[in-house]
Amino acid sequence: MTDAAQPQYKGPQRVFSGMQPTNGLHLGNYLGALQKFVRLQDHYECIYCIVDLHAITTGPDPENLASRCREVAAAYIAAGVDPKRSTIFIQSAVREHNELTWIFNCVARMGWVERMTQFKDKAGKDAQRSSVGLFDYPVLQAADILLYKATHVPVGEDQKQHLELSRDIAQKFNNDHNAPNFFPLPEPLIQGPGARIMSLRDGSKKMSKSDPSDMTRINLTDDADAIMSKIKKATTDAHPVPESKDGLEGRAEVENLVGIFAAVTERSVEDVLTEFGGKGFGVFKPALAETLAAKLSPIAAEMRRLTADTASLDAILKDGAEKAAAVAQPIMAEVRDVVGLWRA
Ligand code: TRP
Repeated sequence: MTDAAQPQYKGPQRVFSGMQPTNGLHLGNYLGALQKFVRLQDHYECIYCIVDLHAITTGPDPENLASRCREVAAAYIAAGVDPKRSTIFIQSAVREHNELTWIFNCVARMGWVERMTQFKDKAGKDAQRSSVGLFDYPVLQAADILLYKATHVPVGEDQKQHLELSRDIAQKFNNDHNAPNFFPLPEPLIQGPGARIMSLRDGSKKMSKSDPSDMTRINLTDDADAIMSKIKKATTDAHPVPESKDGLEGRAEVENLVGIFAAVTERSVEDVLTEFGGKGFGVFKPALAETLAAKLSPIAAEMRRLTADTASLDAILKDGAEKAAAVAQPIMAEVRDVVGLWRA
């Protein structure tokens, strides 16, 4: 898989992605990110980060930040990211993320960053009161990716615009420094079932940990009973499961449940509809709940085990940071040269 827009790029194909350190991971995080991270290990060299520098853009949380990082690291590993094959590390442990961000601050244009819709959403009405860091968030994200010359970035649909910005920054850096293929133009990997997991109660809203009702989401730590009751109470309609995809039109909640089933079992939506088409939700929902519980309960148990033993988890993260730094530091040294910075 080479990038059609940049066939001349000769560097290795490499995956990079990151997640914010957050407790309260849910099914959307699992299907939208973790499950994909796991699968990509079979095809690429993968580097997975927990982005604590991004987390502080919306406010400090010194007491909990480290434990939030550990929780996400545990989720990566419990889901199947193998720290021996892939690199798992905490962003702030590799100082070069900050260094490359500054250089990219001098490449990115105000107009490009001002266009970012996520900033507008997060800053809300009073953008003047948000941190400069929140505004600069997507530039730090570009530095995350390009510090490793990553070529492929698995992300949710909502990160597409940030990936475009990363490509624009890479392209402008290459042009400005007369280094045509220095940075790859990183490509988002978004496709596949599970790209967008919606609220169990409202098919027009994303499943989110900030939704006030816990019934709208399946948490990674929910037990089988909680999963069964949430799925049973999930919004559907009076019609049976449709026999084909056309029958999902205008039925966002049904489409979401079928999509979840397909993503969890790694089957196609068509395949799931062939099995359940014409059956009622009294049949489909218990089957879905059982499948989910069977998938998630070993992950939850493994997360508990990993977070209980912080010494071992921290050792894995230290090793990950060393592996990440071994890739990042030579690239950063090249960047310094290309930019003409003082050779200290
Ligand atoms: N902004 C991403 C998100 O909220 C997280 C992130 C930070 C990221 N740095 C990244 C994702 C680099 C991919 C690559 O989902």
